Amino acid sequence: MPDESVKKTVTVALGVCIFCSVLITTAAVALRGIQLENKKLDRIANILIAGDLIVKDGNIRSIYEKKIEPRMIELSSGETVPEEKFTKDLNINDFDIKTMADDPEYGMPIPGDKDLGKIKRMPKYMVVYLVQENSKTEKVVLPIYGKGLWSTMYGFIALDKDLTTVRGFTFYEQAETPGLGGEVDNPRWKNSWKGKHVFDEQGNLKIEVIKGIVDVSRPEAKYEIQGLSGATLTSRGVDHLVRFWLGNDGYALFLKRLKEELHG
Ligand SMILES: Cc1cc2nc3c(=O)[nH]c(=O)nc-3n(C[C@H](O)[C@H](O)[C@H](O)COP(=O)(O)O)c2cc1C
Repeated sequence: MPDESVKKTVTVALGVCIFCSVLITTAAVALRGIQLENKKLDRIANILIAGDLIVKDGNIRSIYEKKIEPRMIELSSGETVPEEKFTKDLNINDFDIKTMADDPEYGMPIPGDKDLGKIKRMPKYMVVYLVQENSKTEKVVLPIYGKGLWSTMYGFIALDKDLTTVRGFTFYEQAETPGLGGEVDNPRWKNSWKGKHVFDEQGNLKIEVIKGIVDVSRPEAKYEIQGLSGATLTSRGVDHLVRFWLGNDGYALFLKRLKEELHG
């Protein structure tokens, strides 16, 4: 076959295409396990960040194993799910919020008027993380998620053992615009949540992301977080998702039970 024949050109081009696609597919399949493992590790790191447990040169897995007690809860009752009830799909190690929310048995739709976080579906169960110091629960790290402007944002909020004071706040997955909504990931903004109060003395949900500067001379300041400038829509999304998850359709019953467990 002469070098410049059409048939030869097409055959070579096709051969290169097939070779490359096999290479890419093989790499994607071979690396899938590593990717999933890295994703899991990133989630664990963010649980530790929210719980303020990261130490320089510390091993993430060993800090997690030493300090964190994961607990599966049923959201509708706030009760702990005992290990005997775990199944292949419902267990702490493989718990994946998205998979659970979409599952016909383990997930449920959220009525439109209650769906503050605009997530449409949510898991019936959640895995929460109790931070242990000297065998005592010092904080609880709660997974939260909801819509920003462009993306569903996944993160954690950590509450003190008083179950009111915010001790940490972080997102581990979001795709808002870098420099605008993406500033939800800015350490300075995340730190501005620390010390804020979620509930008032009567137990009413008060935390709020506001537009503009927080006036610290007002008593309400302890419930307010300054929204991100130039990213009001993402800030509103964060406000809504936090209020959803800490409210009656989220962790309210679990927090009530945990309060009894910790403080009688
Ligand atoms: C390309 C582009 C990307 C944007 N990304 C975001 C975003 O991620 N989050 C957000 O809240 N607003 C984003 N905005 C701005 C919103 O459209 C809107 O103007 C802004 O939320 C208003 O915030 P402000 O009232 O603080 O100015 C973006 C705008 C443009 C043009």
